[in-house]
Amino acid sequence: MKRITKLTKQPVAAMFILSLLMSVSTAGADEVEKAVDYRQGLMNVYNWNMKAMSNMMKGKVPYDQKTFAAHANDLAAASALSLLPGFPEDSESEESDALPEIWMEFDDFEAKYKALGEAASNLSRTAADGEKGAIGEALKKTGKACKACHKKYKN
Ligand code: HEC
Repeated sequence: MKRITKLTKQPVAAMFILSLLMSVSTAGADEVEKAVDYRQGLMNVYNWNMKAMSNMMKGKVPYDQKTFAAHANDLAAASALSLLPGFPEDSESEESDALPEIWMEFDDFEAKYKALGEAASNLSRTAADGEKGAIGEALKKTGKACKACHKKYKN
């Protein structure tokens, strides 16, 4: 009996270590996927609101100041959330359009996110009591803040 236990001990230990290693590596991949989901989720929130506002400005749907202001408010709130934890170092994946330049110039990436926050809160203030021309300008500036980041850091 003793002999058998001794013999089986080693493979069991090896299997245990192997499964430990495997769970560590899948946890890593899992964390990346979660981060990608989070950041893309936020991007989709931005997009939802931007699309609604630009459709109104273009006359694709009737302009309604209250609805517009609500979207501007939501965009400002969403772009005040922490986006950067959604970009842990080197979190590239097949599901993602994020470029490696993000982690080479993280300070600049952060600055571009800050610029969006400022543009969006300005848009929200303007939409609350501005006239349509000023609101249109503020919307354009916000769109530029999206594009400035995508141009450099998104596939
Ligand atoms: C600080 C940089 C930055 C700013 C600012 C930014 N984005 Fe992005 N965006 C990215 C990156 C990077 C990706 C790719 C993310 C990925 O696929 O992992 C992305 C992806 C997207 C996507 C695709 C999401 C998906 O499901 O694949 C949309 C839509 C989007 N952004 C819209 C916007 C809009 C609208 C704005 C402005 C209101 C904006 N983004 C501002 C960096 C930014």
